[in-house]
Amino acid sequence: MTNAYNTITHFIIEQQRTYGGGGNLTLLLNDIVTSCKAISNQVNHGALIGALGSLDSENVQGEVQKKLDVLSNDIFLGNCEHGGHLMAMASEEMDDIYPIPEDYPKGKYLLLFDPLDGSSNIDVNVSVGTIFSILRAPDGKIGISADDFMQPGTRQICAGYALYGPSTMLVLTTGQGVNGFTLDQNVGEFMLTHPNLKIPKETSEFAINASRARSWEAPVKRYVDECLAGEDGPRERTFNMRWIASMVAEVHRILMRGGVFMYPMDERIRDQGGRLRLLYEANPMAMIIEQANGLATTGRERIVELNPTKLHQRVPVILGSKNEVQRIIDYHQE
Ligand code: F6P
Repeated sequence: MTNAYNTITHFIIEQQRTYGGGGNLTLLLNDIVTSCKAISNQVNHGALIGALGSLDSENVQGEVQKKLDVLSNDIFLGNCEHGGHLMAMASEEMDDIYPIPEDYPKGKYLLLFDPLDGSSNIDVNVSVGTIFSILRAPDGKIGISADDFMQPGTRQICAGYALYGPSTMLVLTTGQGVNGFTLDQNVGEFMLTHPNLKIPKETSEFAINASRARSWEAPVKRYVDECLAGEDGPRERTFNMRWIASMVAEVHRILMRGGVFMYPMDERIRDQGGRLRLLYEANPMAMIIEQANGLATTGRERIVELNPTKLHQRVPVILGSKNEVQRIIDYHQE
């Protein structure tokens, strides 16, 4: 007998049978998977289809929008709006929420996404990704608003990302561990290639944008200084450093071989609350990391326990291998 849930679709159906739940989430995930395949295709063709470069517009965060940011956003909206599983969507690329249009039936979920994360990498052909998070919509509510999205990350029903790298991968959790799938371009399906991912507790690798070192808070500075001191320092071993400037690629590396990713608070971004967005970057990644035995913190609080107050709220993010992240939390408490 062949493996009955080798494809992501079979896998999701199998999970639904094992852990219960209606078919709505399964169908919504199917729409998300289709969106990621379509974005993968656009990213893959890049300059051949004139998809690279910037537009004249800026998003709500004041960042210049890339053509592929907007295209990817449209792909998500178009694929996910008419299935009848959602009440509304929210994205990095839209100032306000996107309620499901009148013409379509409404469902019980809310979808948040960053359609193309790490977009500074697009034009130089370095890995980028999509991040998504699914929340439950309030029961029977008419007229959905941004307030309905203000739920802590512990309430996420599902979180995942697609990585458009040398191969396209989709990594998913519905709260029963983390599984990775690789897109078979010929079959047009994501295949289960990385079941039950777990992050090693120990690591000697960290990722941080070191150009911001002069603005870091003392606990982060101490942690990095101690790593850099190598065998002669208090850690008594050599550490390796990586920075891709693409959170999806960074988190993926940590899921594969351990490590720590930090975009911590620093003086230059204190006014904004941090760099990365809570609802569609930090929360879904934190859920994935925790489900894979890692930790995700701001340095002071568990990310998924934060109570959001704004759709595009930013937070400090430190996540990855348990023992190292715990050490950084301890440094913040000292
Ligand atoms: O928008 C988020 C993001 O692109 C992340 O994917 C990445 O980790 C970070 O910003 C890179 O920031 P910087 O340009 O400061 O290195």
